[in-house]
Amino acid sequence: MSAATDMNTPILKVEHLSMKFGGLVAIGDLSFEARRGEITALIGPNGAGKTTVFNCITGFYKPSEGMITLTSRDGSRFLLERMPDFQITAKAKVARTFQNIRLFSGMTVLENLLVAQHNRLMKASGFTVLGLVGLGGYAKASRESVELAEHWLEKANLVDRADDPAGDLPYGAQRRLEIARAMCTGPELLCLDEPAAGLNPRESLALNALLNDIKDTTGTSILLIEHDMSVVMQISDHVVVLEYGRKISDGDPAFVKNDPRVVAAYLGVDDEEVGEVLTAVGDEHVIHELEGEPDPDHGPSPSSSMMAGPISDTIEQSGDGADRSELVKVSPDASKARIVEEREKAKSALSNALPAPRGGTPDRLTLIKGIGPVNERKLNEHGIFHFDQIAAWKKADIKAAEEYLAFDGRIAREDWVGQAKSLAKGEADKRGGRK
Ligand SMILES: Nc1ncnc2c1ncn2[C@@H]1O[C@H](COP(=O)(O)OP(=O)(O)O)[C@@H](O)[C@H]1O
Ligand SMILES: [Mg+2]
Repeated sequence: MSAATDMNTPILKVEHLSMKFGGLVAIGDLSFEARRGEITALIGPNGAGKTTVFNCITGFYKPSEGMITLTSRDGSRFLLERMPDFQITAKAKVARTFQNIRLFSGMTVLENLLVAQHNRLMKASGFTVLGLVGLGGYAKASRESVELAEHWLEKANLVDRADDPAGDLPYGAQRRLEIARAMCTGPELLCLDEPAAGLNPRESLALNALLNDIKDTTGTSILLIEHDMSVVMQISDHVVVLEYGRKISDGDPAFVKNDPRVVAAYLGVDDEEVGEVLTAVGDEHVIHELEGEPDPDHGPSPSSSMMAGPISDTIEQSGDGADRSELVKVSPDASKARIVEEREKAKSALSNALPAPRGGTPDRLTLIKGIGPVNERKLNEHGIFHFDQIAAWKKADIKAAEEYLAFDGRIAREDWVGQAKSLAKGEADKRGGRK
């Protein structure tokens, strides 16, 4: 395959992909394509199988069935399902980021970008990784590598933080650093697992800008996982929707967002609401928050959960540990009914629900970062109208709410309870004081 590939060849072709874990069909006969130079989004509710698809593409899992073909710009073709993960990174040039940030938190921002290039550096100069990150640090690194790192520092708007430990960066900046690091490997395909999760609106805008820049100025194609539909609608060229491991829709954002199967898959969301969110989250909600208080970087610091694991090829290859800890062990046939049933149970477990807002006026729950209009309505439907109700959530309530909203770990990570506490205090001051 020597002739240069024309731009219309899909960069990635997934055909009849299946992945089974014991009796559970995590992915069933999935076929889709990602076109070169585009941003393709893989969306679906939690547990739909999105991360599993990434794990198959990046060689962390060997699929039970199916073919995954990557065609590079120079026409080289790789059958990813037959390659070990390190070759998928090094030869097929697939880079990924993880649902949970994985940076070398003790190393500086610049060092993180240099380590990403250690393959090339080692080849060029015989450096060892330890030599690179150890004593001499980046002073020893080749000029070219430093230049590439600086290029991506600039693109990711991190120049000012180059010498700070990665773990000290705000959450959104860490997300961009991860992407910059992946880009330093010069990937054909960049796979991002929920890059917008936990970002505040300002950080989301910065992320979108970075992704659009990558799309416009590099030859890298992007495959993006997201479970919140509103996020992808603004930046994707093409959207593939998964539910229970199967594809339920595939097309451009406008088509997908109006597809009744997609609307139904986002449980409890009616057509009108989906439309509302798609426009509202992008505009009104964001603008509202941007005009508000400067947004302190939210949530518990992610640095504690970051680790410097073993350095493998360019991007660490490892499973999504956190995902695995909340396995839904259900048989494929019963899975839909069971998940619905579990969500019903979770709803009724929200213990401090009220039948109606006190005094007829609900608080604007969307002021809590992480709660958008859809989730606000879902919470309202189950009697949560006020900040103080969320402020009073105990562990079990958080768990129930996360199950109900299908938001694994996000409520804790974004510290909704803490946010609700300060908002509730503000409301109380208003009521008690000035009025
Ligand atoms: N290693 C594994 N062992 C058993 N079940 C798994 C494993 N990985 C994923 N699953 C299951 O496969 C399904 C899809 O998971 P995942 O791909 O993480 O979903 P998503 O990323 O869309 O939230 C879930 O039911 C999950 O529990
Ligand atoms: Mg996932």
